[in-house]
Amino acid sequence: MENLNDARKEINAIDREMAALWIKRMEAVKAVVEYKKANGIPVLDTAREAALLESNLGQIPENLRDFYIEFQRGVVGVSKMYQREVLGNPDDMITLNLGDRTYNILVRRGCLKSASEFMDLDRRVLVVTDDGVPPEYAKTVASQCKLPEIVTLPQGERTKSFESYRELLLKMLELGFTRRDCVVAVGGGVIGDLAGFAAASYMRGIDFYNVPTTTLSQIDSSIGGKVAIDLCGYKNTVGAFWQPKFVLIDPDVLKTLDSRQLSAGLAEAVKMSLCFDRELFEMFETGAAEHNIDEIIRRSLKIKKQVVEKDETENGLRRVLNFGHTIGHGVETAEEGRLIHGECVALGMLPMCSDDVRKRLMNVLSSLNLPTKITADRDKVKTAMTHDKKSEGKAVTVVKVDIPGEYRLEKISYNDLNSLLDSYLTNIQEA
Ligand SMILES: NC(=O)c1ccc[n+]([C@@H]2O[C@H](COP(=O)([O-])OP(=O)(O)OC[C@H]3O[C@@H](n4cnc5c(N)ncnc54)[C@H](O)[C@@H]3O)[C@@H](O)[C@H]2O)c1
Repeated sequence: MENLNDARKEINAIDREMAALWIKRMEAVKAVVEYKKANGIPVLDTAREAALLESNLGQIPENLRDFYIEFQRGVVGVSKMYQREVLGNPDDMITLNLGDRTYNILVRRGCLKSASEFMDLDRRVLVVTDDGVPPEYAKTVASQCKLPEIVTLPQGERTKSFESYRELLLKMLELGFTRRDCVVAVGGGVIGDLAGFAAASYMRGIDFYNVPTTTLSQIDSSIGGKVAIDLCGYKNTVGAFWQPKFVLIDPDVLKTLDSRQLSAGLAEAVKMSLCFDRELFEMFETGAAEHNIDEIIRRSLKIKKQVVEKDETENGLRRVLNFGHTIGHGVETAEEGRLIHGECVALGMLPMCSDDVRKRLMNVLSSLNLPTKITADRDKVKTAMTHDKKSEGKAVTVVKVDIPGEYRLEKISYNDLNSLLDSYLTNIQEA
């Protein structure tokens, strides 16, 4: 027992010395970060990190080297966290404040290459992507991970399935993922929703990072924590609220996205602008938006951030984001895959606007090559609408816009919703 006490005393004394040394180290780090700040040098310096490790490894006994590497990684990780805190958030970083689930969203061209500067990839990482996303995006992220595994699934909504979900969980199990490992989604809303749900449920939840690569996911779906898969054709039936640890948005990846997908995602930004941001709507009207995709992404994310901060789990305000979705979902189902989600949201907004706003919205939609006329079978749309999971009994809360930038919620019966659609289709659309 005496020996144990002696050993503990020695450890305590060493820890005291290490604490004093650690404080000195952090002071030195501060000097470095101030220099980096003054000279615009990024926090991450992988060459320096590797050299640091190498220079000390020689004096470490062989049997301790792996442990030392882990120790040094921890020291460097904490140092980077501190450097970022001293530097403060750059202008292109948005913080979504949700108490202990708070996270940052970076919108910066080219940031894919410096993912590890913002995300802790120094562990096992499941990088999930699909075969429509250029493979170099997932590879760029994987190249910055300690132990990466890329899983590439077939593209399309059908991948948001129980089977793909199971595949991801089994892959993590097979690779020995623990609660300390993480999942990174590199793709559109399908991959984000699926990978996020796998992260939310594996071992009761592990870290999740989102690297969205479509306009829809960069503007909307990557933040807010809604993750889900579809079940028997019903969208988002099984899911969770699971916030990512960080969202990394590189608008450069949109250059490979086809123009139809690009426009469909922009419909979600038009939706946000109509409800909350008149200036953004006017940017769409004047065509200024076309050359300012970064600005559209940032403004849309700031709107969504404010809504999610007030209503994380969609008990009230967050329903506003469903503007255009009630009729939109009806159209989407009735079109049986001929139209994609954003196109249907675009159409779903039209009956919910005042005459003046509708006219202006139609011009915006045309300029974005989005559809402006509902051509789906009216009865099919109505039947599909009544299956909308947002319905409460026989009524549904819809969002209406009379003036750009302002919305109102209205609870109406399904009968009245059907009549609203009828009168829109008969009087306005066919005029
Ligand atoms: N979680 C949320 O809050 C939320 C919100 C809105 C929508 N969603 C979900 O998002 C999904 C739709 O997302 P989406 O519109 O991004 O579709 P998607 O994920 O299917 O991506 C569209 C297509 O683009 C391809 N692609 C992705 N990035 C690319 C790139 N950079 N270059 C070239 N091709 C690329 C994909 O392979 C796919 O074929 C739906 O399942 C919807 O339910 C979720």
